[in-house]
Amino acid sequence: MTFPKNTWYVACTPDEIDGKPLGRKICGENIVFHRGTEGQVVALEDFCPHRGAPLSLGTVCEGKLVCGYHGLVMGCDGKAESMPLQRVGGFPAIRVYPAVERYGFIWVWPGDAALADPALIHHLEWAESPDWAYAGGLYHIQADYRLMIDNLMDLTHETYVHSTSIGQKEIDETPVKTRTEGEQVITSRFMDNVMAPPFWKANLRGNNLPDDQPVDRWQVCRFTPPSHVMIEVGVALAGHGGYEAPADKKVYSIVVDFITPETETSHWYFWGMARNFNVHDKALTEQIREGQGKVFAEDTAVLEGQQRNLSKYPGRRLLMLNIDAGGVQSRRLLDKMLAAERAHDEARAQAAEKVAA
Ligand code: FES
Ligand SMILES: [Fe+2]
Repeated sequence: MTFPKNTWYVACTPDEIDGKPLGRKICGENIVFHRGTEGQVVALEDFCPHRGAPLSLGTVCEGKLVCGYHGLVMGCDGKAESMPLQRVGGFPAIRVYPAVERYGFIWVWPGDAALADPALIHHLEWAESPDWAYAGGLYHIQADYRLMIDNLMDLTHETYVHSTSIGQKEIDETPVKTRTEGEQVITSRFMDNVMAPPFWKANLRGNNLPDDQPVDRWQVCRFTPPSHVMIEVGVALAGHGGYEAPADKKVYSIVVDFITPETETSHWYFWGMARNFNVHDKALTEQIREGQGKVFAEDTAVLEGQQRNLSKYPGRRLLMLNIDAGGVQSRRLLDKMLAAERAHDEARAQAAEKVAA
């Protein structure tokens, strides 16, 4: 397996389960999400114990899933509650997945439920602060989730893939620095005294700053397992301290990326941007969201083509250049996590065997 399962992933956003169930495959598990009897988020195996229809094709009635095939009513605890003219007491229960709603997202733990601790959910300061505004979207991408991590941990591609929005030649002329700090990989690039590309010009105007003067630009990408990449990005009017410049001289945001594996070769990409300037300007929020959506659609095309090539020639050796260090170091952390998970699964299987014997 290429993805850890004993960890929290973003599964969906609240609007996706508004009054209806949502079926979504996450880490190879078919899961149905809905709002339960208390308004809480419920994640169950997407499988009706009667004849195996996906429960996500049914409806939600007073917080309970109703199978769309023959009307079985499923409790939030995975136990069948009723079915027209049938006794359901002996029906096998279906699996319940730990799920939590936090920071405007719904998180799921697709692995061993006994290990699911909500305190382990990635903390997002900006999601709790009125000083920040956030907007984003979701793309379903036919590519290994690790290709997206590689992409976000190496922004040299912006010069080529995003030439009309955020790309500029100085990006691939400026070396990046990559380091691993504990459970985090950080790749950073600072470009001084450059002209802002179109996306940043628009943001400068959005914060009532001139867009025709040189700026200092920065990109600091932070990967944390299993697959979260937060990128601090911004520009400041040149000579005011760059990254450290006072708030009235810069525009600054965090590009938010939650990359949730669906299968070994596909993933759910929750992208967005949190900003701390002009936060009440809804039109600006929408303008940024639209711009970012277009930029990320450009990555999708490259990644899906890359995956098709890799699937066709699985034995082909790829090169590792210094620009790839961010992706390489991120995969190293992931491999460590996967090895720990394998050891945990083996120990659990051995314990179960002992009990059986
Ligand atoms: S398959 Fe769900 S009620 Fe029959
Ligand atoms: Fe990109």
